[in-house]
Amino acid sequence: PAAVDYQAEDAFISQGVVESNHTGFSGTGFVNYDNVSGSFVEWTVPASTAGPASLALRYANGTTLNRPMDMTVNGMAVSAAHPFNPTGAWSSWAMATLTVPLTAGPNRIRATATTANGGPNVDKITVS
Ligand code: GCU
Repeated sequence: PAAVDYQAEDAFISQGVVESNHTGFSGTGFVNYDNVSGSFVEWTVPASTAGPASLALRYANGTTLNRPMDMTVNGMAVSAAHPFNPTGAWSSWAMATLTVPLTAGPNRIRATATTANGGPNVDKITVS
């Protein structure tokens, strides 16, 4: 199937804010996670059939430390403490990819910060 972008600024945000003060984002901005464990962004992604899909999460991490996040789909763990390593600058964006099991209908894809540093800045996910 075709790749579809889902912007972070259009998703459900818990403990984070939409910002646009670093260049290179797509859409109208990105999500700056609060610097707390448990902050998350949750996208609702429709699928016509059940099965594995490729998910790419576009992020920037201008610090020198990994900003891991738990990746879940419909409440089920897909990748615990998935690494989001430094990208060199807040304006340098990278892709993290993983395979996610989708069900037919709406899917809740959530990225939750696991450390007190919060998540990286998140631009969007691309599902294909
Ligand atoms: C800086 C940066 C933000 C980033 C934040 C963080 O304030 O400008 O975009 O989200 O650091 O550490 O999370």
